[in-house]
Order: sequence, then C-alpha cells, then structure tokens
Amino acid sequence: MKHLLKMLDLTTEDITGILDLADQLKYELKHNIPHPHLKGKTLGMIFQKASTRTRVSFETGMYQLGGYPLFLSSNDLQIGRGEPVQDTARVLSRYLSGIMIRTFEQKEVEDLAEYGSIPVINGLTDFCHPCQVLADLMTIREFKGKLEGLKMCFIGDGNNMANSLIVGGLKMGMSVSIACPVDYQPPKEILDFAARYDCFEMTDSPMQAAKGADVVITDVWASMGQEDEAAKRRAAFEGYQINDDIMAQANNDAMVLHCLPAHREEEITERVFEAHSKEIFEEAENRLHAQKAVMVKLMAD
Ligand code: CP
Ligand code: NVA
Repeated sequence: MKHLLKMLDLTTEDITGILDLADQLKYELKHNIPHPHLKGKTLGMIFQKASTRTRVSFETGMYQLGGYPLFLSSNDLQIGRGEPVQDTARVLSRYLSGIMIRTFEQKEVEDLAEYGSIPVINGLTDFCHPCQVLADLMTIREFKGKLEGLKMCFIGDGNNMANSLIVGGLKMGMSVSIACPVDYQPPKEILDFAARYDCFEMTDSPMQAAKGADVVITDVWASMGQEDEAAKRRAAFEGYQINDDIMAQANNDAMVLHCLPAHREEEITERVFEAHSKEIFEEAENRLHAQKAVMVKLMAD
C-alpha cells in the first residue's frame, strides 16, 4: 500500500491491518503510552473544501505521532491560482514526507500520487471518503465485535460516503443494502464492483434496505459544492430520512452512524441522532485513530 486514494485500491488484508493498528494506537493514546512512529516527518494538508474533523484529527494525529502537520489552504497555495497539480506534486515531494488532500475531483488526487514521490492520502473527494469509512468500520467492529456477516444499510445520496461504504463493507464481508432515489444512485464504477457480490442490494425503498440491518448509515443530502441544489435535493430525498419508522425495520440493537456534519430533521431526526450519539461521536473520535494508523502504514520508516 503506497497511498490511500480510494477504498477500491485496498485489499481486505490492508483494511484489517489498518483497523488492527488503529485499535492499538487508540489503546496506547488512552493509556498514555508514547507512539512516536513519525518522529521528524511532515504532513502537508491541502484543503480545497471546509473541514472540522479531517483537519483537526490529521493535525492532532500527526503531532501525537511525533511529526509535524502543515495546514495548506488552497486560498493561499498557488494551486488556487491555477498552478497544475502535477507541478505542485513534484515540488511538495521535495519538502514533505506525505500529503493529505481534500478536493473536488478524484483525478486531482490520483494525479498528485502519480506525479509526486511521497504517499498521498485522500481526505475526501466528490467520489469517495476512504478515511471516514475506515473510521466507520473501526467503530462497527468496536461496538459489534466483528464485521463479517453483519448487515450495513445506507439511506440517502449515492455519493462519496455511499461509494466508500459499499466498497469497504463488501470487502470486509458485510452485506450491504443501499436505498437512494433513482436519480441519485452511486456511479457505474461502484455498482459494477458491487454487482460481483450476492450480498449487495440496491433499492429505492428505505424500508426495504433497513430490514434486519445491524448498522444504519446516512449522509447529508447536499454535499460540499452542491449548495445551489439544496432545495431540489430536499424534495428528491423526501422519504429518505432515518427516523423511528426506519429504525423499527432494523434489528433492535442496530447502530446508527453519520459522518457529520448532520442536518437534523433532514437526513436524520433529532430523536434518532441523539439516541445514537454514543456511536456517532465514537465514530468521529475514531477518525483520529484510523488516520494515525494510515499515516504509520504509509509514512513510517
Ligand atoms: N466527516 C468529515 O469528514 O468531517 P469534516 O468535513 O468536518 O472533515
Ligand atoms: N457527503 C459529504 C460528506 C462530508 C464529510 C460532503 O461531501 O460534503
């Protein structure tokens, strides 16, 4: 594993290795056991979109590992004025030990990896959000003790979160049911991957997808960059809310996850959100541990 660009690139063994190391790093942090695996290393963090969790967890995580994080806003970088990513990649590779990037197009992340000579980590694109899904899988394993054989249900937009959940869940032996409005289904590349698995279901019925689920997951209806479509999307996603009726279809002990930020009374009711806040905020914390594991795997000597 040289980069973390998308879940599709990872093997089941890669994912298990990251989750095991993440559990270990979480234990070490909680018990004040130093773990300076990245002493003297630097991580450049390029943000072309807003962030709370990704920025703070990478920045803090790098510090805890003994390294130094640099926050690089695209408002300040020459990339924001049109310098090609191919040149940025070759320059940054001469200063840094690794790059994390949050941007719009997946191609930009892939180009950064191709033209640079240091590990690249995808901190969210329009296509996928692998760091979040590694934290989600870690959280499910923590609460349920396993992943294999569990049913994951995602209700909402067939976008970056759904794409990574489908791939990550299936690779880890989960059955995955996705409910999206017909015009908001995941892209062909993801559906083609999922079609190889008997335990994948794509439906436009949230009730059907939630039946017998062990984990129920959603995401915002209008993602970053889609703010202009918010009203149209609110109409299209009516009926795709995680609420008590949906939860009644799931198993009694089903978990709820949300990558955050959440829009209460849109994709999830306040009631369901607060009833499951324990796992939702553990999920947010696990971003830190999962990303530290990714950085150690990619950047340690
Ligand atoms: N879930 C997530 O990626 O949060 P941020 O947008 O705050 O980084
Ligand atoms: N789908 C959301 C995820 C935010 C973490 C977005 O792209 O804005």
